[in-house]
Amino acid sequence: MHDISRSSARIAGIGYYLPEKTLTNADLEKIVETSDEWITTRTGIKKRHVVAEGEALVDLVVRAGNEAIADAGIIPEEVDLFLVATATPEQPIPASAAIAQPKLGVVNAVSFDISAACSGFVYALNVGRQFIMNGTMRNVLIVGAECLTRYVDWSDRKTCVLFGDGAGAVVLQAAPEGEGILEIDWKTDGTLSGFISMPGGGSRFPPHSKESIDQRLPFIKMMGNETFKVAVRAMAGLSKEVLDRAGVKPEDLHLFIPHQANQRIIQAVGKRLGFRAEQVYSNVASVGNTSSASIPIAMTQAIREGRLERGDLVMVTAFGGGLTWASALIRY
Ligand code: UT7
Repeated sequence: MHDISRSSARIAGIGYYLPEKTLTNADLEKIVETSDEWITTRTGIKKRHVVAEGEALVDLVVRAGNEAIADAGIIPEEVDLFLVATATPEQPIPASAAIAQPKLGVVNAVSFDISAACSGFVYALNVGRQFIMNGTMRNVLIVGAECLTRYVDWSDRKTCVLFGDGAGAVVLQAAPEGEGILEIDWKTDGTLSGFISMPGGGSRFPPHSKESIDQRLPFIKMMGNETFKVAVRAMAGLSKEVLDRAGVKPEDLHLFIPHQANQRIIQAVGKRLGFRAEQVYSNVASVGNTSSASIPIAMTQAIREGRLERGDLVMVTAFGGGLTWASALIRY
């Protein structure tokens, strides 16, 4: 195998999909005791997208995956590995990637899911990159996708105002030296697994168990305030390590795309890292928190808005349930 396969992986194609239906803060005012003013000042979110009746995770995966495959200029049969990062799968068995595989036509791809909550997409970048680097895979399709609104407790105002649905996808291919993913790192701290969780719906409390139903366990729960502080520290800390390792100064970066959880977190992380406001990308106002879909959706939008061009240096960083976090420096 030529040396190029051992350098790194580059984003050869990218795309996203957001369901048509949206839910505004004014809509939420009718569901729980909240206000546009509270949601806007505390989170920066104005609206989020919601899957239609009859639509589910795999529909989103297929829409975003098709875009990324077309953008990469390959045919689906050329994909060797297909990873779906999600916390809200189509169903527990089989993997959402297996269900989506024939619909996308990626019939030659080994296909499975990655579960790392909001960090799932960046975790998948690191997994996919390994197989590109060792020369065993040529095209890796990664889709971060979520149907969070199906798992939201619409009586819990602390969480239901935050989340939205969507999917974002990339195709990874071998990169020559100095291109693609230049540095990447990932972390897990399971001692804080209670910060963001869905306690029911698994083998401890199956969805049909009395506890699950009586205690409303199969819903997303979050210790928001505690999570906020760790999120800022973790994303800023790991991103700084990655930048330092690559010898990149904050002013040399074209765009910083942090996980879109909350505008206050996005700003705080950007500030800690010494980025100017215009270096920090945010679309949280229009999509809310889409967990593992957040970064590829934001990156595609940034490209289409002309904020990120081929050859630019971009840094992405994610944080979520696990707790998990990850940062990648990419020459796009
Ligand atoms: O994607 C994974 C990573 N996720 C995150 O990183 C999210 C991290 N956390 C956050 O973004 C924020 O903590 C939240 C947006 C979730 C909450 O903001 P906060 O400023 O931390 O608010 P809080 O939870 O401390 O609540 C402050 C007050 C409380 O009232 P009291 O106890 O002070 O009377 C809440 O009951 O705001 C109240 N509150 C609300 N009021 C109106 C909480 N949610 C709402 C709401 N509308 N939707």
